[in-house]
Amino acid sequence: MTSPSPRTTVVAGGTAGLGLGIARARLAAGDQVTVLGRDPVRGRRFLDDATANGAEGRAAFVAADLGTLRGTRDAVLAVADRHDVVDALAMTAYAPPLSRRITADGLESGVAVYGFARKMLADGLADRLDASEHPVILSLSGVGVVHGTIDWDDPTLEHRWSTVRSTTQAGRVAELVGVAHADRRPHVAYILAHPGFTRTAFSGTPRALLPLVQLLGLIAGRSVDQSLSPLLPLIEVPPAEALSAYDRGRVIDTARFADLDEAHRVDAWLDEVALRTP
Ligand SMILES: NC(=O)c1ccc[n+]([C@@H]2O[C@H](COP(=O)([O-])OP(=O)(O)OC[C@H]3O[C@@H](n4cnc5c(N)ncnc54)[C@H](OP(=O)(O)O)[C@@H]3O)[C@@H](O)[C@H]2O)c1
Repeated sequence: MTSPSPRTTVVAGGTAGLGLGIARARLAAGDQVTVLGRDPVRGRRFLDDATANGAEGRAAFVAADLGTLRGTRDAVLAVADRHDVVDALAMTAYAPPLSRRITADGLESGVAVYGFARKMLADGLADRLDASEHPVILSLSGVGVVHGTIDWDDPTLEHRWSTVRSTTQAGRVAELVGVAHADRRPHVAYILAHPGFTRTAFSGTPRALLPLVQLLGLIAGRSVDQSLSPLLPLIEVPPAEALSAYDRGRVIDTARFADLDEAHRVDAWLDEVALRTP
C-alpha cells in the first residue's frame, strides 16, 4: 500500500507522553501537527524540538485546559482557525485527579477531561474532520482491560470518590463517547485503544510518589515507541470500520464494551451539560 500524502493531525494532550509521541511521529511523517495542552513550558519544548528537527512551520501549540467546556470550546476555535481540514484527531489528555473536584460545568473533574472534552472536541471539529478524505479519531484509554462503570445515581461520585473510581468511571465515559460517535457519524473511523502500561510523564502523580511510579514504569512499563508502534499505522491508514478497538495492538471485539443504549445515554447527558453551559 502506498503511503498517503501528509495530513493534518491534532493531538489533544500532545505535550507529553503518548500524545507527544504521536505528535512527533506525525511531524516526522510530514504532517501539519497541532498539539493542545495546559503547560506552556511543555508546549515550548515541543515547538523547539520541532524546529530542531526541521519541522518549523508545521508544528503548533495551543494552550488549552480541556477540563472545562469553555477551555475546550476555545481550543476548538483555535484549531478551526488554524486548519480547514483535520485528518486525524488523537485524544490523549488525562491526569488522574488526586481529590474530588467539580468543574464549572458541574461535572466530576475526571469525567470532564477524559469524557466530556473528548466528545466536545470531536463534535466541535466535525466539519473539519468531514473535510478529510479519510478522517480518523484515536482515543486512548483502558478499553478492554479496565472495566469501569458509570454511577448514574451519583455521577459526580459525591458518596464514594477515589482516584481509581474517578478514573475508571471517566474511562468508561470516554469509551461510550466513542461508541456513540461511531453510531452517529460512521464515516469517521473512531479507534479506542489501550496502550498498555507505558513510561510517560505520569501527569497528575503527586511529586512524592513520582519516583516510585517511574521505577514501576522502568520495571514493568513499555516505552512510548513500543506502545505506539501498533497504533501509528492506524492513523496513517485508518480502519474501514466506524468503531474499532485495540489492546496493546490486539483487536478487541467491540461487542465486549459497546453498549449502544448506555452510549446514547452518555451522549444525551453530556449534550445537556453543554446546552446549559453558556
Ligand atoms: N501511560 C500509561 O501507562 C497508560 C495506560 C493506559 C491508558 N493510558 C491513557 O493514555 C493517555 C495518555 O496518557 P500518558 O500516560 O501519555 O499521559 P501523560 O504522559 O501524563 O500526558 C498527559 C497529557 O495530557 C495533557 N493534559 C492533562 N490534563 C489536561 C487538561 N486538563 N487539559 C489539557 N491537556 C491536559 C498533558 O499536558 P499538560 O500537562 O500540558 O496539560 C499531557 O500532554 C491517557 O488517556 C491515559 O489514560 C495511559
